Amino acid sequence: MKDQTDTLLHPEVTGFFDPATNTISYVVKDPGSNACAIVDSVMDIDYAAGRISYDHADEIIAFVRQNDLSVDWLIETHVHADHLSAAPYIQAQLGGKLGIGAKITVVQDTFGKVFNEGTEFQRDGSQFDRLFEDGDTYDVGGMTCRAIHTPGHTPACMTHVMGDAAFVGDTLFMPDGGSARADFPGGDAGELFDSIQKVLALPDETRLFMCHDYGPGGREILWETSVAEEKAHNIHVGGGKTKEEFVKFRTERDAGLEMPKLIIPSLQVNMRAGELPPADADGKRFLKVPINTL
Ligand SMILES: [Fe+2]
Repeated sequence: MKDQTDTLLHPEVTGFFDPATNTISYVVKDPGSNACAIVDSVMDIDYAAGRISYDHADEIIAFVRQNDLSVDWLIETHVHADHLSAAPYIQAQLGGKLGIGAKITVVQDTFGKVFNEGTEFQRDGSQFDRLFEDGDTYDVGGMTCRAIHTPGHTPACMTHVMGDAAFVGDTLFMPDGGSARADFPGGDAGELFDSIQKVLALPDETRLFMCHDYGPGGREILWETSVAEEKAHNIHVGGGKTKEEFVKFRTERDAGLEMPKLIIPSLQVNMRAGELPPADADGKRFLKVPINTL
Protein backbone atom coordinates (compact mmCIF):
# COMPACT_ATOMS: atom_id res chain seq x y z
CA MET A 1 0.00 0.00 0.00
CA LYS A 2 1.27 3.45 -0.91
CA ASP A 3 2.17 5.57 2.09
CA GLN A 4 -0.08 8.59 1.58
CA THR A 5 0.88 10.39 4.76
CA ASP A 6 2.91 13.57 4.73
CA THR A 7 5.81 12.38 6.86
CA LEU A 8 7.88 15.44 5.93
CA LEU A 9 5.38 17.78 7.58
CA HIS A 10 6.27 18.93 11.08
CA PRO A 11 3.05 19.62 13.01
CA GLU A 12 3.21 21.70 16.16
CA VAL A 13 2.46 19.38 19.08
CA THR A 14 1.41 20.72 22.50
CA GLY A 15 1.15 18.27 25.40
CA PHE A 16 -1.17 18.70 28.38
CA PHE A 17 -0.17 16.56 31.35
CA ASP A 18 -2.84 15.37 33.79
CA PRO A 19 -1.10 14.66 37.11
CA ALA A 20 -4.10 12.78 38.53
CA THR A 21 -3.82 10.00 35.94
CA ASN A 22 -0.35 10.59 34.42
CA THR A 23 -2.03 11.02 31.03
CA ILE A 24 -0.78 13.34 28.31
CA SER A 25 -3.36 14.86 25.96
CA TYR A 26 -2.22 16.56 22.78
CA VAL A 27 -3.22 19.35 20.47
CA VAL A 28 -1.64 18.72 17.06
CA LYS A 29 -1.65 21.67 14.66
CA ASP A 30 -1.40 21.33 10.91
CA PRO A 31 1.66 23.40 9.88
CA GLY A 32 -0.18 24.77 6.84
CA SER A 33 -3.41 25.99 8.44
CA ASN A 34 -5.18 26.58 11.74
CA ALA A 35 -6.66 23.10 11.75
CA CYS A 36 -5.81 20.78 14.64
CA ALA A 37 -6.54 17.40 16.17
CA ILE A 38 -6.96 16.71 19.88
CA VAL A 39 -5.62 13.34 20.99
CA ASP A 40 -6.71 11.52 24.19
CA SER A 41 -8.40 14.18 26.30
CA VAL A 42 -9.17 13.67 30.00
CA MET A 43 -12.32 14.29 32.04
CA ASP A 44 -11.57 14.77 35.75
CA ILE A 45 -13.23 12.47 38.28
CA ASP A 46 -13.22 12.34 42.05
CA TYR A 47 -14.27 8.71 42.18
CA ALA A 48 -14.66 8.64 45.97
CA ALA A 49 -17.17 11.48 45.72
CA GLY A 50 -18.74 10.39 42.41
CA ARG A 51 -18.01 13.85 41.01
CA ILE A 52 -16.84 14.73 37.54
CA SER A 53 -15.37 18.05 36.37
CA TYR A 54 -13.57 19.48 33.39
CA ASP A 55 -10.53 21.49 34.48
CA HIS A 56 -8.14 19.54 32.25
CA ALA A 57 -10.45 19.71 29.22
CA ASP A 58 -11.10 23.41 29.83
CA GLU A 59 -7.36 24.04 29.65
CA ILE A 60 -7.27 22.45 26.20
CA ILE A 61 -10.38 24.33 25.06
CA ALA A 62 -8.81 27.63 26.21
CA PHE A 63 -5.60 26.81 24.32
CA VAL A 64 -7.52 26.03 21.12
CA ARG A 65 -9.49 29.29 21.40
CA GLN A 66 -6.47 31.45 22.28
CA ASN A 67 -4.64 30.16 19.23
CA ASP A 68 -7.67 30.44 16.94
CA LEU A 69 -7.49 26.77 16.02
CA SER A 70 -10.31 24.80 14.47
CA VAL A 71 -10.71 21.19 15.56
CA ASP A 72 -11.00 18.71 12.70
CA TRP A 73 -10.62 15.55 14.78
CA LEU A 74 -10.85 14.25 18.33
CA ILE A 75 -8.81 11.06 18.38
CA GLU A 76 -8.92 8.32 21.00
CA THR A 77 -5.92 6.02 20.62
CA HIS A 78 -7.91 3.33 22.48
CA VAL A 79 -10.50 2.67 25.20
CA HIS A 80 -8.49 3.86 28.17
CA ALA A 81 -8.76 2.01 31.46
CA ASP A 82 -7.12 4.60 33.68
CA HIS A 83 -8.84 7.88 32.84
CA LEU A 84 -12.14 9.09 31.44
CA SER A 85 -12.30 10.75 28.03
CA ALA A 86 -13.56 14.33 27.74
CA ALA A 87 -14.06 14.05 23.97
CA PRO A 88 -17.84 14.69 23.92
CA TYR A 89 -17.45 17.70 26.23
CA ILE A 90 -14.78 19.21 24.00
CA GLN A 91 -16.66 18.31 20.82
CA ALA A 92 -19.78 20.11 22.09
CA GLN A 93 -17.76 23.32 22.43
CA LEU A 94 -15.27 23.11 19.60
CA GLY A 95 -16.72 20.69 17.04
CA GLY A 96 -14.62 18.11 15.21
CA LYS A 97 -15.22 14.45 14.48
CA LEU A 98 -14.56 11.75 17.06
CA GLY A 99 -12.59 8.72 15.88
CA ILE A 100 -11.32 5.44 17.37
CA GLY A 101 -10.13 2.06 16.07
CA ALA A 102 -12.77 -0.14 14.40
CA LYS A 103 -12.10 -2.95 16.89
CA ILE A 104 -13.92 -0.81 19.48
CA THR A 105 -16.79 -3.18 18.73
CA VAL A 106 -14.82 -6.04 20.30
CA VAL A 107 -14.11 -3.92 23.39
CA GLN A 108 -17.77 -2.88 23.61
CA ASP A 109 -18.87 -6.48 23.37
CA THR A 110 -16.45 -7.59 26.11
CA PHE A 111 -17.27 -4.82 28.55
CA GLY A 112 -20.94 -4.67 27.64
CA LYS A 113 -21.01 -8.17 29.15
CA VAL A 114 -18.78 -7.28 32.13
CA PHE A 115 -21.11 -4.41 33.06
CA ASN A 116 -24.24 -6.33 32.10
CA GLU A 117 -25.43 -3.54 29.83
CA GLY A 118 -28.84 -3.85 28.27
CA THR A 119 -29.69 -3.79 24.59
CA GLU A 120 -29.77 0.03 24.62
CA PHE A 121 -25.96 -0.09 24.77
CA GLN A 122 -24.97 -0.38 21.11
CA ARG A 123 -21.87 -2.48 20.48
CA ASP A 124 -21.39 -1.32 16.89
CA GLY A 125 -19.18 1.71 17.55
CA SER A 126 -22.00 4.05 16.49
CA GLN A 127 -21.21 6.36 19.43
CA PHE A 128 -18.19 7.52 17.39
CA ASP A 129 -18.17 9.51 14.14
CA ARG A 130 -15.47 7.36 12.50
CA LEU A 131 -14.06 3.89 13.07
CA PHE A 132 -10.54 3.56 11.69
CA GLU A 133 -9.36 0.40 9.98
CA ASP A 134 -5.65 -0.35 9.70
CA GLY A 135 -4.07 2.07 7.22
CA ASP A 136 -7.04 4.45 6.99
CA THR A 137 -6.21 8.07 6.28
CA TYR A 138 -7.94 11.29 7.31
CA ASP A 139 -7.12 14.98 7.00
CA VAL A 140 -6.24 17.57 9.60
CA GLY A 141 -6.34 20.74 7.50
CA GLY A 142 -3.99 19.99 4.62
CA MET A 143 -2.14 17.23 6.45
CA THR A 144 -3.06 13.65 5.61
CA CYS A 145 -2.82 11.48 8.71
CA ARG A 146 -2.85 7.71 9.02
CA ALA A 147 -4.14 5.26 11.62
CA ILE A 148 -2.14 2.07 12.16
CA HIS A 149 -3.74 -0.82 14.04
CA THR A 150 -1.46 -1.59 16.99
CA PRO A 151 -3.36 -4.09 19.19
CA GLY A 152 -1.99 -5.94 22.20
CA HIS A 153 -2.63 -3.56 25.08
CA THR A 154 -6.26 -3.64 23.91
CA PRO A 155 -7.80 -4.99 20.67
CA ALA A 156 -8.76 -1.51 19.41
CA CYS A 157 -5.44 0.32 19.95
CA MET A 158 -4.30 2.49 17.04
CA THR A 159 -1.16 4.54 16.50
CA HIS A 160 -1.87 7.82 14.69
CA VAL A 161 0.79 9.18 12.36
CA MET A 162 0.48 12.93 11.75
CA GLY A 163 3.34 14.29 9.65
CA ASP A 164 6.63 13.36 11.35
CA ALA A 165 4.83 12.67 14.65
CA ALA A 166 3.19 9.47 15.87
CA PHE A 167 0.80 9.15 18.79
CA VAL A 168 1.33 5.67 20.11
CA GLY A 169 -1.28 5.50 22.87
CA ASP A 170 -0.17 2.78 25.29
CA THR A 171 1.72 0.75 22.70
CA LEU A 172 5.01 2.10 24.05
CA PHE A 173 6.17 4.12 27.03
CA MET A 174 9.30 6.28 27.16
CA PRO A 175 12.47 4.15 26.73
CA ASP A 176 12.98 3.88 30.51
CA GLY A 177 9.28 3.03 31.02
CA GLY A 178 9.16 0.17 28.52
CA SER A 179 5.66 -0.91 27.51
CA ALA A 180 2.11 -1.05 28.83
CA ARG A 181 0.40 -4.10 30.27
CA ALA A 182 -1.25 -6.59 27.94
CA ASP A 183 -3.47 -8.46 30.40
CA PHE A 184 -6.79 -6.63 30.09
CA PRO A 185 -9.56 -8.69 28.45
CA GLY A 186 -8.64 -8.85 24.74
CA GLY A 187 -5.02 -7.91 25.43
CA ASP A 188 -2.16 -10.08 24.16
CA ALA A 189 1.57 -9.72 24.84
CA GLY A 190 2.59 -11.34 21.54
CA GLU A 191 0.32 -8.98 19.57
CA LEU A 192 1.72 -6.06 21.54
CA PHE A 193 5.25 -7.03 20.54
CA ASP A 194 4.23 -7.21 16.87
CA SER A 195 2.49 -3.84 17.13
CA ILE A 196 5.57 -2.27 18.69
CA GLN A 197 7.57 -3.51 15.70
CA LYS A 198 5.13 -1.66 13.41
CA VAL A 199 5.82 1.56 15.31
CA LEU A 200 9.57 0.95 15.26
CA ALA A 201 9.37 0.45 11.48
CA LEU A 202 8.48 4.14 11.07
CA PRO A 203 11.40 6.38 10.03
CA ASP A 204 14.06 6.65 12.78
CA GLU A 205 13.54 10.38 13.22
CA THR A 206 9.77 10.05 13.76
CA ARG A 207 8.75 11.89 16.92
CA LEU A 208 6.86 9.53 19.23
CA PHE A 209 4.35 10.91 21.73
CA MET A 210 3.29 8.83 24.72
CA CYS A 211 -0.16 8.68 26.28
CA HIS A 212 1.33 8.14 29.75
CA ASP A 213 4.48 8.75 31.70
CA TYR A 214 5.11 7.86 35.34
CA GLY A 215 8.57 9.38 35.73
CA PRO A 216 10.39 6.13 36.60
CA GLY A 217 13.07 6.49 39.25
CA GLY A 218 11.79 9.95 40.13
CA ARG A 219 12.83 11.62 36.87
CA GLU A 220 10.80 14.53 35.50
CA ILE A 221 7.71 13.69 33.43
CA LEU A 222 8.53 13.32 29.74
CA TRP A 223 6.34 12.39 26.78
CA GLU A 224 8.34 12.77 23.60
CA THR A 225 10.98 10.42 22.22
CA SER A 226 11.85 9.03 18.76
CA VAL A 227 11.83 5.74 16.93
CA ALA A 228 15.65 5.67 17.03
CA GLU A 229 15.69 6.21 20.82
CA GLU A 230 13.10 3.50 21.44
CA LYS A 231 14.89 1.02 19.20
CA ALA A 232 18.16 1.56 20.98
CA HIS A 233 17.10 2.01 24.58
CA ASN A 234 13.56 0.79 25.33
CA ILE A 235 13.99 -1.41 28.40
CA HIS A 236 11.36 -3.93 27.25
CA VAL A 237 11.88 -4.15 23.50
CA GLY A 238 15.01 -2.16 22.64
CA GLY A 239 18.41 -3.54 21.71
CA GLY A 240 16.93 -6.38 19.66
CA LYS A 241 14.92 -8.21 22.35
CA THR A 242 13.09 -11.21 20.92
CA LYS A 243 9.34 -11.74 20.93
CA GLU A 244 9.77 -14.76 23.20
CA GLU A 245 11.73 -12.75 25.75
CA PHE A 246 9.17 -9.97 25.65
CA VAL A 247 6.12 -12.23 26.01
CA LYS A 248 7.66 -14.07 28.97
CA PHE A 249 8.63 -10.85 30.71
CA ARG A 250 5.34 -9.06 29.99
CA THR A 251 3.18 -12.00 31.10
CA GLU A 252 5.08 -12.42 34.37
CA ARG A 253 5.04 -8.70 35.09
CA ASP A 254 1.31 -8.34 34.33
CA ALA A 255 0.41 -11.18 36.69
CA GLY A 256 1.61 -9.03 39.61
CA LEU A 257 -0.09 -5.75 38.63
CA GLU A 258 -3.15 -4.39 40.41
CA MET A 259 -6.10 -2.99 38.46
CA PRO A 260 -5.81 0.72 37.61
CA LYS A 261 -7.63 2.85 40.21
CA LEU A 262 -10.12 4.24 37.70
CA ILE A 263 -10.68 1.16 35.53
CA ILE A 264 -14.33 0.70 36.54
CA PRO A 265 -15.58 4.22 35.76
CA SER A 266 -13.17 4.60 32.83
CA LEU A 267 -14.41 1.58 30.88
CA GLN A 268 -18.09 2.39 31.39
CA VAL A 269 -17.59 5.92 30.09
CA ASN A 270 -14.97 5.33 27.41
CA MET A 271 -16.78 2.43 25.76
CA ARG A 272 -19.58 5.00 25.27
CA ALA A 273 -17.16 7.41 23.56
CA GLY A 274 -16.83 9.44 26.76
CA GLU A 275 -20.54 9.73 27.52
CA LEU A 276 -21.86 8.86 30.96
CA PRO A 277 -24.33 5.97 31.18
CA PRO A 278 -27.90 7.10 30.40
CA ALA A 279 -29.89 8.78 33.16
CA ASP A 280 -32.59 6.83 35.02
CA ALA A 281 -36.25 7.92 35.21
CA ASP A 282 -35.33 10.54 37.84
CA GLY A 283 -32.58 12.00 35.64
CA LYS A 284 -29.83 10.55 37.84
CA ARG A 285 -26.75 8.86 36.42
CA PHE A 286 -24.90 5.96 38.01
CA LEU A 287 -21.79 3.91 37.43
CA LYS A 288 -21.77 0.23 38.30
CA VAL A 289 -19.18 -1.75 40.23
CA PRO A 290 -19.19 -5.38 39.06
CA ILE A 291 -18.23 -7.62 41.97
CA ASN A 292 -15.50 -10.22 41.52
CA THR A 293 -15.54 -9.84 37.75
CA LEU A 294 -12.46 -7.90 36.70
FE1 LIG B 1 -4.47 2.32 28.11
